[in-house]
Amino acid sequence: MTILTGDCRHLMPEYGPFDLILADPPYGDTSLAWDRRVDGWIVLARQALRPTGSLWVFGSLRCFMATADRFADAGLRIAQEIVWAKQNGSSFHADRFKRVHELAVQFYPTETPWRDIYNDVQTTPDATARTARRQQRPPHTGQIDAGHYLSHDGGPRLMRSVIYVRNCHGRAIHPTEKPSALLEILIRTSCPQGGLVGDWFAGSGAAGEACRLSGRRYLGCEIDADMAELARARIAALLPFHGGGVA
Ligand SMILES: C[S@@+](CC[C@H](N)C(=O)[O-])C[C@H]1O[C@@H](n2cnc3c(N)ncnc32)[C@H](O)[C@@H]1O
Repeated sequence: MTILTGDCRHLMPEYGPFDLILADPPYGDTSLAWDRRVDGWIVLARQALRPTGSLWVFGSLRCFMATADRFADAGLRIAQEIVWAKQNGSSFHADRFKRVHELAVQFYPTETPWRDIYNDVQTTPDATARTARRQQRPPHTGQIDAGHYLSHDGGPRLMRSVIYVRNCHGRAIHPTEKPSALLEILIRTSCPQGGLVGDWFAGSGAAGEACRLSGRRYLGCEIDADMAELARARIAALLPFHGGGVA
C-alpha cells in the first residue's frame, strides 16, 4: 500500500503482475505545460498485467482517438467504457458545450477470452418489479442469456454505464483528482479482493484510498515528488481494511 516517486515506465514494470492497472495519464488535449502525452507506457502496462487482468484508462475521446493504435499495437482490446458525469467541469472554449464528463475505457489482453477476465458486475438496488420476456433474437446476436428474467422493486439492477459522482472541487489536493467513490466502482468490478492494483499516474492517491476501503492491495506511482508525498500521507491517514463492508 504505497506510492513510488518517479516515472511509471521505469518503476512499475518490475512490480507486476497486476490484477488491475488504473491509468489516468495527462490527456495531452491542451497546450498547458503539464498536459503532455506520455509515450511508451501502454505497452509496458500491458506486459505488467496478469493475463486475466484488465486496464482502465481515463481520457477524452480526442485523446483515445489519437492513441487508439497504441492500444491495439500493445495487444489490448476494448471491453467497454463508462462515462463519469460530474456537477461541473472545465471550460476551455466559449463556443462549445461545457464539458462535464470524462471517459474511462477498459482494455484487456487480446489473447485472453473476455469470459476469463476478472469481472464482478456491479449492481445498484433500484430495480422495478417486472418480468422481462425476450423475443426471439435476431440471428446475428447469438444466444446471450436466459429468455426471461424477474426483478422486484428495490432489487439489484445492472449498474448503468453513465455514473454520476460529484467531483472533488473545493477539497481536492490535485488539479485533476478523480473521486475515490468512482474509482472504487472500477476496482470492485475488475480486481478480486486482495488482488494488486497498479495506479500508474497516481496524482493524489485517490485510487489508493479506494483500494484501502475495498480491501485491495495498491501500488501507485507519481512523478511529482511533492504530490507523491501528499498522496502517501492521505493513504496513511485512513484506517486499514478489516474485511467487512459491502463486497
Ligand atoms: C491526470 S493526473 C492523475 C490524477 C489522479 N488520478 C488523481 O485522482 O489524483 C496525472 C498525473 O500523472 C503524473 N505523471 C505524469 N507523467 C508521469 C510519469 N511518466 N510517471 C508517473 N506519473 C506521471 C502527473 O504528475 C499527474 O499527477
